[in-house]
Amino acid sequence: MKNKLITLCMAAVLFMPMMAAASGGAHLDTAPIDINDKDSLKRGAKAFADYCYSCHAASFMRYNRIARDLGMEEKEVRDMMIHTYGKKGAPTKIGELMHVSMTADYAKNAFGTPVPDLSLVARARGADWVYTYLRSFYLDPYRPTGMNNAVFPDVAMPNVLWSLQGLQEAVYKKSEHAGIEVEELEHLKLVQPGTMSEEEYNSFVADLTNFMVYLAEPVQVERRSLGWKVLLFLVVLFGFAYALKKEYWKDVH
Ligand code: HEC
Repeated sequence: MKNKLITLCMAAVLFMPMMAAASGGAHLDTAPIDINDKDSLKRGAKAFADYCYSCHAASFMRYNRIARDLGMEEKEVRDMMIHTYGKKGAPTKIGELMHVSMTADYAKNAFGTPVPDLSLVARARGADWVYTYLRSFYLDPYRPTGMNNAVFPDVAMPNVLWSLQGLQEAVYKKSEHAGIEVEELEHLKLVQPGTMSEEEYNSFVADLTNFMVYLAEPVQVERRSLGWKVLLFLVVLFGFAYALKKEYWKDVH
């Protein structure tokens, strides 16, 4: 028993830094999202198309699946998302995957790193991480883009949403670690307002995060409602099975 306890404690101590590293050590805000809210998902899809889809692909998703899942006309999705042409100059079809025209080489030249595909990012990083990341860019004159990020230090992505959110500055606090004085990022302060208020921007990013959570597992809405139906079926089946068992055994007892 004692040994088990010691092993458990050691495992906890070992894993703690890993868990902290997964979030970059920064505090993550809870993403106020609802995967069943189709209007929010539609707003998120539009935001994705307008601000992200020029650089980031979502190449596990097809346009017509978005139309079907979000209850939109295919034409609506086409007007909102498809601005590219296929290899032979023909318009991209509604049943195609969501690739982008930007090549990995071009991206490497422009940003120093390829632009990651966003299909699965909400699963890999978590919704809270994505929600916090998109609200945590701050001015940093030492970075090539002039911006840094509190949850993704030294990120290569430019802050494409700055005109909506405004510009933020980092406020540091001094603390001591093992006798050495260090500066730690305490919070971010808005120094130049954008076109949206803080509330509007948070809800804009929540919709965008919601859409990315859907992208990462499009079937989840169906899966959850199907799960309840399966449980209901099992309860009913249990009733019948029990009645049958009683019928079979009634002469024995
Ligand atoms: C101008 C091109 C560009 C645009 C537009 C852009 N990004 Fe990025 N994004 C990048 C690059 C480059 C990286 C890689 C950063 C790195 O590795 O340092 C990145 C990284 C990310 C990551 C982190 C991925 C990971 O797990 O490492 C997320 C999340 C992300 N972008 C979301 C978005 C969203 C949401 C939008 C739209 C609001 C957007 N990006 C718009 C270029 C862009």
